[in-house]
Amino acid sequence: MRILVLNGSPRPNGNTAAMVAAFTAGAMAVGHRVDVINICRKNIHGCLGCEFCHTKGNGNCIQNDDMQEIYPLLEQAEMLVLASPIYYHGFSGQLQCALNRIYALDKPQKLKRAALFLSSGDRDVYNGAIYAYSNSFLDYLKLENMGIFTAYGDQNKSEELLNRLSAFGRSLIDIHEGGYSMSGHIAALSDSVTRKKVVYKNRYGMDIMGELYCGKALDLTQKHSALIVGAPYGGVKEQGPCVYGDQLAQRGFVVLTFDQSFMGESGSFPRNVSSPDIFTENFSAAVDFLGLQPFVEREKIGAIGICGSGGFALSAAQMDTRIKAVATASMYDMSVAVRGNMDRAALRAAKEQLSAQRWVDAENGYPEYLPGFPEKPIEEVPADIQEPDAEWMRFYAVKRGHHPNARGGFTTTSALTMMNYPLLAHIDEISPRPVLFVVGDRAHSKFFSENAYAAALEPKELYEVADAEHIDLYDRTDRIPFEKLAEFFNINLK
Ligand SMILES: Cc1cc2nc3c(=O)[nH]c(=O)nc-3n(C[C@H](O)[C@H](O)[C@H](O)COP(=O)(O)O)c2cc1C
Repeated sequence: MRILVLNGSPRPNGNTAAMVAAFTAGAMAVGHRVDVINICRKNIHGCLGCEFCHTKGNGNCIQNDDMQEIYPLLEQAEMLVLASPIYYHGFSGQLQCALNRIYALDKPQKLKRAALFLSSGDRDVYNGAIYAYSNSFLDYLKLENMGIFTAYGDQNKSEELLNRLSAFGRSLIDIHEGGYSMSGHIAALSDSVTRKKVVYKNRYGMDIMGELYCGKALDLTQKHSALIVGAPYGGVKEQGPCVYGDQLAQRGFVVLTFDQSFMGESGSFPRNVSSPDIFTENFSAAVDFLGLQPFVEREKIGAIGICGSGGFALSAAQMDTRIKAVATASMYDMSVAVRGNMDRAALRAAKEQLSAQRWVDAENGYPEYLPGFPEKPIEEVPADIQEPDAEWMRFYAVKRGHHPNARGGFTTTSALTMMNYPLLAHIDEISPRPVLFVVGDRAHSKFFSENAYAAALEPKELYEVADAEHIDLYDRTDRIPFEKLAEFFNINLK
């Protein structure tokens, strides 16, 4: 989406500018193009009311000032953000001049959405600006209001405010045509289940955005078993985890899905970084969150990891005894996967290359990230792509599993840390808590589950699903053995 931000503050490092910067970072992290115009650095006069634009001008303003740069941006923008300090209960004068000049365009063609950021000294001084925004932009220009954010006094530049604005930027998800719900979940929620967005912090103070699934009939005055479902490595909660959340909530569990740090709607920068420690920690942070809910029984918390999250869930269970049972589906041990079949020489060469990339990243001030999947879903996977890349594409690149927050891969140098810390070094220490490995009979990744099964101690089970490839256990309700999973957790969370 193309977003145009008009910042009406004359102070380049002021409070409004901080709001704009936090929002812009969040929106750009999920792929939006954001143009920020600092109106006070422009030479923009007030409207002359001459009506040239609506007569001879054919939509063009007669005044040849810097507003002429902004008209094309307004014509291309799909969302407009007005950001201003409150001056005498309204917008700054400079911004007001620019807003009046939109008159020449009537309605910018592509503009559908709007948001308002206001900064002030005192509280409760926003009515004038909100009145103008509501009447001129929402009602008259028929824009959908995406949010109004205000900050006064000490709220200005506060971490809480800036995190909220960054999260707001990240939450603006493009909706694909056909089949997608508002937040881009790949599967519909059943009528008997509710889903609620939740935010909490991990041990490092990073914001984690999750979704909590509960059966509508669940008596929330009582305590229940709860499950954490982690997404595949590079995936987000709106993909496979939403299928698990819905199905397991139907079977009586409270289910928490979440986005890993640096991913999706969760916080922290730079985006698309991975870390064996932080991704493991986020399962323990999910236990913290669930255990604080009055309707969750602390002694009855289990975890499910799909694909790469299988490794992270097991890793968390190795140390965090509050996880009472673990199941994996199409498990990948990413610390083994990034090493692949490299011999010592190949490994050294890979480390040399990645270490050199660190210099490039350090010089650029940001890490290289090369997404693997397209921005919009494609119709079908090109025939010349080899397995297993073609298999990833059969989910992530097409409508079946595509999500704009899951473009594939991580920052290039993430591989270094992943290959340095063996995730499952202490898998034998999960015992006597039980582990269930669910794997498709045709899964290219089957050896990960078989090896981990061999290394784990009792009680343990390797459960094979007939006629299933690796990605089938992400979303196919006719393949994922939900009855088996429910039975496993019902028996072991008691
Ligand atoms: C000319 C002027 C008028 C102001 N009027 C108000 C006002 O009516 N109410 C208020 O609460 N703050 C008022 N303020 C304070 C600013 O809104 C506040 O300091 C704001 O955070 C500045 O944002 P900035 O740092 O982005 O420029 C005014 C400030 C100036 C310079």
